[in-house]
Amino acid sequence: MDATFSPAAQQVRIDLGDRSYPISIGTGLLGDPATYQDLPAATTALVVSNTVVAPLYVGALRRALQPHYKRVLQVVLPDGEVHKDWPTLQLIFDALLENASDRKTVLFALGGGVVGDMTGFAAACYMRGVPFVQVPTTLLAQVDSSVGGKTAINHPLGKNMVGAFYQPERVICDLDVLQSLPPRELSAGLAEIIKYGPIADMDFYGWIENNMEALLAREPAALAHAIRRSCEIKAEVVGQDERETGLRAILNFGHTFGHAIESGLGYGQWLHGEGVGCGMVMAARLSQRLGLVDSAFVERLRTLIQRAGLPVTGPRLSPTDSAGRYLELMRVDKKAEAGEIKFVVIAAPGSAAVRGAPDALVREVIDASCD
Ligand code: NAD
Ligand code: GLY
Repeated sequence: MDATFSPAAQQVRIDLGDRSYPISIGTGLLGDPATYQDLPAATTALVVSNTVVAPLYVGALRRALQPHYKRVLQVVLPDGEVHKDWPTLQLIFDALLENASDRKTVLFALGGGVVGDMTGFAAACYMRGVPFVQVPTTLLAQVDSSVGGKTAINHPLGKNMVGAFYQPERVICDLDVLQSLPPRELSAGLAEIIKYGPIADMDFYGWIENNMEALLAREPAALAHAIRRSCEIKAEVVGQDERETGLRAILNFGHTFGHAIESGLGYGQWLHGEGVGCGMVMAARLSQRLGLVDSAFVERLRTLIQRAGLPVTGPRLSPTDSAGRYLELMRVDKKAEAGEIKFVVIAAPGSAAVRGAPDALVREVIDASCD
């Protein structure tokens, strides 16, 4: 492995003018009071977590925050994608208002992407905006969801349909917390890491291929390198197109098919990263049928996704017309324009584009990719 591991925290910067912020990557960060120096001055901090993560890490985080705030409050949400909704979001506002929290209160999102997306949305809304800090505890959240300011909750008719762009003050990626992650969740995070290869950096893709065993074994040097390079690529994209007027859509490679799987099966059946993994195989097949990449490229990607422990065959979403149901769900995707579905395709290895495709071709891809 060519990545060397330094116990000193590494930093990646998200460059967005006066809303720029650092992502710290390292070990021993979460419980160290020094990690939380120089945040906006406030008397109250509210740690938002869930029933799985709170028993593991909320004590250490609250102790580390104590020197910086008069009050360190906590709210513990129910766990899971199925709770990324209005009633659960309301629990955060309840905790803020029941404790008379003022508009300087800093929110800390301690958890995976679900907690991060909901805490960010709550921070964007509470008193029209309070500061928040991302303390992501899943691999997926460290390489993707905690970075870039997309916040949201789900609607029964579509994933992440209600939300805001709202940037955190800081992102703290502590490698230690990844050791308690269930293997299925580790694989889900690997999907978002793999994603950065075909869309932006085939050298990194080769590195992932060569280091998949080290990543699955959670070797800190491998994890640190993968998280850092993923965050660098995301920083580059978000720095150019924060609000997804164009370029940022490439970060959704695999997501159009993946979101259809997630909402079609019911949130929480397939993990987000699993939908993205399988969705990338489908999006690569679509790219092939559009004449953009060859079958060897698709097979190489399918093999890597499978090695990461992710599903590569999609589920049927209807006993009668599964492809039709996929199409129906994909029309609710945020990239859709006037009912036309837009797909992130691979224009050439290492470079992505967004474009429409004939329904008949998409149907062929779905039929070839599902059970
Ligand atoms: P998640 O937040 O549901 O976390 C996965 C599971 O792991 C949960 O049960 C959680 O409680 C548990 N967990 C978290 N940290 C743990 C730890 N250290 N040890 C043991 N268990 C732990 O799921 P996720 O994969 O982190 O995030 C998926 C969500 O992120 C989706 O809602 C997706 O839409 C969103 N997302 C957002 C963006 C964005 O840009 N905002 C990007 C990608 C994904
Ligand atoms: N996860 C896609 C994005 O942040 O744009």
